[in-house]
Amino acid sequence: MTTARKKIVLAYSGGLDTSVAVPWLRENYDADVITCTIDLGMVDLETIRQRAFAVGATDAVTVDGRETLVDEFLWPALRAGAIYEGQYPLATALGRPLIARYLADVARQHDADAVAHGCTGKGNDQVRIEVGVSALAPGVELIAPIREWGMNREDEVLYARDRNLPIAPSNNKYSTDENLWGRSAEAGELEDPWVEPPEDAYEWTVNPGAAPDEPAYVEIRFEEGVPTAVDGETMGGVALINHLNELAGAHGIGRIDHVENRLVGIKSREVYESPAAVLLHDAHRALETMTLSRDQSRLKERIAQEYAELVYNGLWDTAHRRDMDAYVDSTQRHVSGDIRVRLHKGSCVVVGRTADRPLYNYGLATYDRADEFDHTAAKGFIDIYGLPGRTQRRQQGG
Ligand code: ARG
Repeated sequence: MTTARKKIVLAYSGGLDTSVAVPWLRENYDADVITCTIDLGMVDLETIRQRAFAVGATDAVTVDGRETLVDEFLWPALRAGAIYEGQYPLATALGRPLIARYLADVARQHDADAVAHGCTGKGNDQVRIEVGVSALAPGVELIAPIREWGMNREDEVLYARDRNLPIAPSNNKYSTDENLWGRSAEAGELEDPWVEPPEDAYEWTVNPGAAPDEPAYVEIRFEEGVPTAVDGETMGGVALINHLNELAGAHGIGRIDHVENRLVGIKSREVYESPAAVLLHDAHRALETMTLSRDQSRLKERIAQEYAELVYNGLWDTAHRRDMDAYVDSTQRHVSGDIRVRLHKGSCVVVGRTADRPLYNYGLATYDRADEFDHTAAKGFIDIYGLPGRTQRRQQGG
């Protein structure tokens, strides 16, 4: 009697690492490999599917995850104001839990024994994917070939050549990842934090110095914290983000050069391009200044930080995130209105805002004749407001 071969579902990008992983898993785990490729905005699924079969996959599953990414991950993160360490809009970090979800689904559908991925042992992504898969498909084994095989890039190329794998020799200078929310680049020359990122580290944005001399203006419409239209044209989320990536990228907006704290304890220099995300976060924050009270804004800012850390640290599929979503959802019920932004040589500046139900009130704010504020009431307010301080000073001294 022959025992059935193992079945492994591999997260497959079509790059060198995961292409080498297909024969490596077949040989080292005596397994059939089912690849799973997910389009989060930047992927040619059919080409990658063909390549999966060419490197020896038994089956090749492809998924268009773009709408789900936007509706279930990017919009909640935007509404929450989630930006890691004040800089990073979390593109890669938001894509991983969705990849984990699809991997878990495919593993279940194919009754697979294991899920494999191409992450290294030094990054955050291994944690995000494995924590996600093990939450959604408990009992499935997790395999990270790159952590195990001890091959460097040249070894991988030789390994591929020995097996006649049809892999185009790419000479990537950086390690990159991209989805609708942004592009991440690391390694190579970027590892020296003193060195300015070379121009070729950027692909989505023009150098701000080379951007048009004339500013562009763009108006974003939000409904309950979700962007729904640009310049009066209603758009679905995927189209809206693609459009803003183009537009803001052409004005050099969204370049981020950051030394960040990884979950695994390493500091790492990362270069990001997130034109749409940077623009939308700025616009969304501006609309909140019109519609949230001071107290709401203050607590929400704290939640934003907690939310960003949770996303970065791979804890998307937790009750803690769902609880924060419930809070954020409640804060967004009046975050509807329009924001006008000026794009010019790498800067995006909010220059106009209007809300459907603003807290901003002209009659209260104006210094003109239309002023409705009762100036005489200020005196009594200040008396009482300063009372505890005066009392303490009198009774206890400075
Ligand atoms: N440092 C970022 C993060 O952890 C991006 C990682 C991107 N991965 C890559 N292979 N370049 O979210």
